[in-house]
Amino acid sequence: MTTDTEPKVIFGGDYFPEQWPEEIWKEDIRLMKQANVNMVSIGIFAWALLQPDEDTFTFGWLDKIMDMLADNDIDVCLGTSTAAQPTWLTQKYDDILFVRESGEQVACGSRQTYCVNSPAYKKAIGRLAKEMALHYKGHKALKLWHINNEYANKNSMCFCKNCEKGFQKWLKKKYKTLDNLNRCWGTVFWSEKYFDWEQINAPRASAGGRNATKLLDYKRFLSESFFGLYMEECRVIRQITPDIPVTTNFEGDWSKFDHWLFKDDLDVVSWNCYPNPNDCSSRKWAALRHSMMRSLLGKPFMLMEQAPSQVDWYPINISKRPGMMRLWSYQAIAHGSDSVMFFQWRASKKGAEKYHSGMVPHYGAESRVFGEICALGDELKKVKDIVGSTINAEVAILIDDDSWWTIDNPYGSGSKSLDNEVFWAANGQPFPSVLVSYFGELEYYFNAFYNLNVPVDVIGVNYDFSKYKVVVAPILHMIKPGFKESVKEFVGNGGTFITTYLTGFIDENVGVFPGGYPGPLKDVLGIEVEEYDPLPLGGKNVIKIAAELDGFRKEYGCSVWCDVAHTTTAKTLAVFGKDYYSGSPCFTENQFGSGRAYYLATRPDEGFMRDFAGKVLADKDIKAPQLPEGVELVTRSNSRKSFDFYLNHDNAETEVKLPEGRYEDLLTGSFFEGTIKLDKYGVAILVKKK
Ligand code: GLA
Repeated sequence: MTTDTEPKVIFGGDYFPEQWPEEIWKEDIRLMKQANVNMVSIGIFAWALLQPDEDTFTFGWLDKIMDMLADNDIDVCLGTSTAAQPTWLTQKYDDILFVRESGEQVACGSRQTYCVNSPAYKKAIGRLAKEMALHYKGHKALKLWHINNEYANKNSMCFCKNCEKGFQKWLKKKYKTLDNLNRCWGTVFWSEKYFDWEQINAPRASAGGRNATKLLDYKRFLSESFFGLYMEECRVIRQITPDIPVTTNFEGDWSKFDHWLFKDDLDVVSWNCYPNPNDCSSRKWAALRHSMMRSLLGKPFMLMEQAPSQVDWYPINISKRPGMMRLWSYQAIAHGSDSVMFFQWRASKKGAEKYHSGMVPHYGAESRVFGEICALGDELKKVKDIVGSTINAEVAILIDDDSWWTIDNPYGSGSKSLDNEVFWAANGQPFPSVLVSYFGELEYYFNAFYNLNVPVDVIGVNYDFSKYKVVVAPILHMIKPGFKESVKEFVGNGGTFITTYLTGFIDENVGVFPGGYPGPLKDVLGIEVEEYDPLPLGGKNVIKIAAELDGFRKEYGCSVWCDVAHTTTAKTLAVFGKDYYSGSPCFTENQFGSGRAYYLATRPDEGFMRDFAGKVLADKDIKAPQLPEGVELVTRSNSRKSFDFYLNHDNAETEVKLPEGRYEDLLTGSFFEGTIKLDKYGVAILVKKK
């Protein structure tokens, strides 16, 4: 996003002037200028100060700081304050606090305590958004609206009476008749049949397994309810300030609601990225999520929050080592962010987050952290040409919330436990193996390509994927109407399609496709799965590669799951080496039209994934640059230039071999040919010279 005619990387963070006496504000502005901050997000949790009672709005203090920021050319991303409602509002309307699955209503005293379907909350946010938009319409500092904050972070599931009523209404609209609902839900099972809409309760924990279609519909309903809340504010704001773009900052956990619903009503995607500095796989964790954010609108996104150093919510919160904050900021830019923003400007003195780092730490401006912030703010001025450039991924991974919610059951936190009693006590819905994780599998396939420095878009299953060369749909459990046709067209036209075990089990109503998995995809894959055998914890089988397959070892390990499959038209590339299905296909390739469709009937080990991804890329002429372990390469480009981001995630200096040509490093202005040395946590952004 560009907030004025001159492109710039947005740099700043959440700013809570209300936590500080006014004398500090002047000092804040001075330090912001020193750090080259050009945007701050304010008003994010200030509802009680903006509306001390139902009929009073007090914008005076916010006007003052907005004016100060405008006078200093610092743009404002204005929060609508609705993620933490004031205590007076909660106390006045007893339906505001959400109700847990256990039936317990949450107490007030924190944020995100509201129920997504509370009429009183909904009315109040619409009113506040309207008052704010009318008040700040035309303000020079206002450049972006920031609606709410991390929808569904704490309150993703509510089981109150309002939600129950809303669910019944939603079901009536969807199914029209009870006969239809009873049929689609299969309520003949265990005598569940409904004779009146009002008999349908919010699906709280019961004595054992619950109706899976009902559980999924409830999740879909709540998900749409969150989108509805967003639209409640968005509509009002757009009407009053049509020229100001609108965003809401997403959390990294996408399982809580369907993010794809927001696609047509966000001007820019923004998100909060908090990888753990104590985990060496953090860079992969972040790369996947950046890719998801970028893919949502297919254009640059905003890194709305990251920690200047440590957070306060991992069990142990180590600090970001010197250089790490800079490296991860560039990683976000490399994957498509046009901003580097933080939570938060000044570390809090009071409240729940006082142990969280700030751009200005408790120690003050003479600190290492503020020093690194200032250096980065200054350096980012050199990379303004990158703004608006894109990443041209030729590989896409499809993500389907319905498959995710069906497999990684969102009901009951204990449901993934290996302990039988815990499993049953909290279980929403029986499933063949707790070792299967939808998102874990998606991550596994993403990493196979990411490890080879190949960019991957992560798109909703309903997106048009025809432009990609390779499309991967890991454990795509549910096949929706129209999907089979899209895959056939894609593969028929020369695309490579990859899918795995557990794909094609159920239709959109969670009913199993009879006649073998992967249901509607049997044709395009040229296989039929007759039965499945989830492996016990630690259980392994062997993938035995067919003799004529180049680029593979003879054998690999596999775990988690084994399908017992037959080929129809597919070629068997590997078979299982053990058990009663020894010799049956576990890795197949089907030529379909001018493309290929692969099926993995198990979870292969990492060695296999590397060789398999390498083969697929080579077959499609997709470059996989060879780099030292720990170095990441991502390229952004526009119609004029390409920017190669070399990111050294290693704690040691390293040397990288460059492709042919002469390159200039945007950050240092130095020229390189042949090789480049990267410091520990070092970054270079190379542009090829003519
Ligand atoms: C989230 C929230 C912020 C803050 C940070 C702390 O991202 O949006 O308000 O609480 O976490 O890490």
